[in-house]
Amino acid sequence: MSLEADVRAALSEVVDPGRGQDLISAGMVKGLQISGDTVRFVIEVDAARAGAMEPLRKAAEEAVLAVPGVARAAAILTAHAAEGEARANAAKGPKGPAPDLGLGMKKPAAPAKARPEGVRHVIAVASGKGGVGKSTVTANLAVALAARGKRVGVLDADVYGPSQPRMLGVSGRPSSPDGTTILPLRNHGVTLMSLGLMTGENEAVIWRGPMLMGALQQMLGQVQWGQLDVLLVDLPPGTGDVQMTLAQKVPLTGAIIVSTPQDIALIDARKGIDMFNRMEVPILGLIENMAAFVCDGCGKVHHPFGHGGARAEAERLGVPFLGEIPLDLAVRVASDSGAPVVLQNPEGPEAQAFWKIADGLIGEGVIG
Ligand SMILES: Nc1ncnc2c1ncn2[C@@H]1O[C@H](COP(=O)(O)OP(=O)(O)OP(=O)(O)O)[C@@H](O)[C@H]1O
Ligand SMILES: [Mg+2]
Repeated sequence: MSLEADVRAALSEVVDPGRGQDLISAGMVKGLQISGDTVRFVIEVDAARAGAMEPLRKAAEEAVLAVPGVARAAAILTAHAAEGEARANAAKGPKGPAPDLGLGMKKPAAPAKARPEGVRHVIAVASGKGGVGKSTVTANLAVALAARGKRVGVLDADVYGPSQPRMLGVSGRPSSPDGTTILPLRNHGVTLMSLGLMTGENEAVIWRGPMLMGALQQMLGQVQWGQLDVLLVDLPPGTGDVQMTLAQKVPLTGAIIVSTPQDIALIDARKGIDMFNRMEVPILGLIENMAAFVCDGCGKVHHPFGHGGARAEAERLGVPFLGEIPLDLAVRVASDSGAPVVLQNPEGPEAQAFWKIADGLIGEGVIG
């Protein structure tokens, strides 16, 4: 039998007393991953019983550990919410009751906000539209702030398309020596946790919404971030569950909104700003990315996505304009190679733009 079959056989001996069924027949085991002698899996439980499931989680882990060839086993509980429940709850908006995000935890009476222990500031990097450069900005700002002596972490909350492992040149799996806390990885002076480190680069994440929210919650609460001046959270595009969960669960110092100068991106940026306003998250400012393109042939400055839109919008909305980043191949090539442009060409105009924004955040006392 393969190791996976042995593991499944062991889990089929573990009975959920609530259902009177074993974990495998009840279809409660999800996301089983085996790498070498380490086994990870998720146990999906009913939200109503989630608080009482810890003994079952432990029993499942012990059963798997007893399988010959398994040296480490880590089971995560996630609550099963009814189809679409998390989305529907999220849609109720900030004024509605706290959504049941199916986190496998007892629901607090009021949403208890907590920063990860030891972390002074949590800053979200957001945009309404996809592909405008949130992850690029996050990676470069993180490295720039670290180079200025700040203790920096990056939480890649783009659970569907994590890009920070590649941009920060981090690979390998975070370890969990005690099966409860997760040790993040580090590169370029930045501490990183990303779901991309738990799944392969080419592996699509097929977990459903509530499970992803559980994963986000874990990345916030169970990762040993250590002492950080700032934790930058690279968000997926839009104003969905991840953004709402983050704003509800964590007292954010604020959000940085990234936009291209293009109108369409700005319209989406306004939606993002509106969401954070409604969630009472301060907007730290707007960054205009892909602002100008200097032709390396003729030296002429082009503005493929228009110019000045984000600055004008920031003024209109009364939020700070943090700076503009030129569009340049070097930015993309550096990100793809795992060392952001602020490290690869620190004197170049693109890097200068990032240094200026990082210094601005420090100078304004945002990060302090
Ligand atoms: N200033 C820039 N110059 C050149 N290329 C850039 C610049 N900013 C971002 N890119 C490239 O554009 C692509 C999209 O950027 P990025 O992944 O950072 O956007 P995103 O907003 O995080 O996207 P998503 O919404 O998918 O998470 C990447 O290939 C990135 O390298
Ligand atoms: Mg991204």
